[in-house]
Amino acid sequence: MDSIFDQKPIRNPEIKRTQLFINNEYVDCVSGKTIEIFNPATEETICWVQEGDKVDVDKAVEAARTAMKRNSPWRKMNPANRGKILAKLADIIERDSALIASVEVTDNGKPFQSALLDISMGISWFRYYGGYCDKIEGRTLAMEDGKMGFTKYDPVGVVGAITPWNFPFMIACIKLVQSLCTGNAVVLKPSELAPLTTLMFGDMVIEAGLPPGVVNIIPGFGPTAGAAITEHPDINLVTFTGSTEVGHIIQTASGTSNLKRVVLELGGKSAFIVGKTADIEKVVQIAQDACFVNSGQTCVALTRTFVHEDIYDEFVRKSADLAKKTRDKVGDPFKEGILYGPQIDQTQTDKIMDLIESGKKEGAKLECGGKRLNDKGFFIEPTVFSNVQDDMRIAKEEIFGPVQPIIKFSSIDEAIDRANSSIYGLAASVFTNDLSEALYAANALESGQVWVNDIMAAAPCTPFGGYKQSGIGRELGWEGLLGYMEVKTIIIKI
Ligand code: NAI
Ligand code: MG
Repeated sequence: MDSIFDQKPIRNPEIKRTQLFINNEYVDCVSGKTIEIFNPATEETICWVQEGDKVDVDKAVEAARTAMKRNSPWRKMNPANRGKILAKLADIIERDSALIASVEVTDNGKPFQSALLDISMGISWFRYYGGYCDKIEGRTLAMEDGKMGFTKYDPVGVVGAITPWNFPFMIACIKLVQSLCTGNAVVLKPSELAPLTTLMFGDMVIEAGLPPGVVNIIPGFGPTAGAAITEHPDINLVTFTGSTEVGHIIQTASGTSNLKRVVLELGGKSAFIVGKTADIEKVVQIAQDACFVNSGQTCVALTRTFVHEDIYDEFVRKSADLAKKTRDKVGDPFKEGILYGPQIDQTQTDKIMDLIESGKKEGAKLECGGKRLNDKGFFIEPTVFSNVQDDMRIAKEEIFGPVQPIIKFSSIDEAIDRANSSIYGLAASVFTNDLSEALYAANALESGQVWVNDIMAAAPCTPFGGYKQSGIGRELGWEGLLGYMEVKTIIIKI
């Protein structure tokens, strides 16, 4: 295969896996209950998935704990062989990518090419970390005479991973690959809104040769199966991507249970700053891509467009024109040329429509959009607001929909201060042809990633995460692995 992007989608792909995956076997849940899974583009039922709960999580944790026993095959495995398994998983994902992407489109509603892009990132992480397994090394310490000391990294033990619905397969890859690279066992709970591609991992880990119990997958709801993970006395780390609200719950559950470690990737309200020397023609398009990516359902969406007053009016006009044209690119995610699919469900759609109404009521100017699209499916028009003030809800809250609030500023210091005055600190982009301005802003912005004249740039080696309430810890790169390991210091008296 030359490129996975040349593949054709499979409409109505067969859904083979709807059960829990424990100890390398697909099994029913104890209660016999099921979750209805629907297609957000058509609102039709796709299938029913087994609904995991506390008893099922307990079984999965027991399997994972057994896999982590001293002298178990997984614990004794040579790190280079662990790396081979990760590389093999990359090959399997690549081979099956058309099917995985088609299931993702059906379950989540994102366009086929976007689903392939998510999968391509997953593949790159499995390859990158496959090469990392035998390069996780400690340090020799500068001790006093007569003593020798060194550090060594151990796996934390059993990882509980809880993932969201906006990038279901991609985020499952992040959590799995880092857990496995560092030698942990995992209990993974995908979102109840889009669990299908994650459930496909069971077959893949068996084929790749992982011992039973190393990877376990329990679909279920947050307050039941999710809470059973966060409160579990025998889970050592919870790695979570989702809302800041649930991030708070997880941190609390860690405190009231066993002080399990937490890695939290949460929400954002990231700033996109357009200096007066920026190239307007180009930047209007990029600013909108940065806002509407994945139908706005993206933690690093740059959803506060700050524009310098000298170019503000022209920028707003061009943004509205562009968004009106983009309306034709919202639709059936299996169709070629479609850029944006539906929102994930009715609840999210209602939340977005409520925020759009709040923008109008609070005095922002609706330049275009603001309405539902199509009779069926959770589609919303690309929406642009101008005259947005910092205290409006659309400037403060995570909208998670295709809505661009455009805000005027007059000096770079003012833009930085206003960008920083948020409970979040996930990302920021600065567009300018003034090098000093670029470096000054990059240095001063309080966010986990800053892009200059670019958006959402990332690679397997780039750590990702948030300042403030956008999260705790980092994922990807070497820093990502640190969250999944304990440091052991060994001191020897000579
Ligand atoms: P959510 O945070 O409730 O869901 C994410 C995951 O957390 C799902 O697997 C869910 O089952 C689980 N979960 C929910 N409650 C839990 C609990 N009490 N204990 C353990 N796990 C729990 O996100 P939701 O409600 O679907 O979306 C609400 C808002 O959250 C969105 O509008 C968006 O603003 C934000 N969000 C941010 C994401 C990100 O990528 N940072 C992803 C998803 C949502
Ligand atoms: Mg929720």
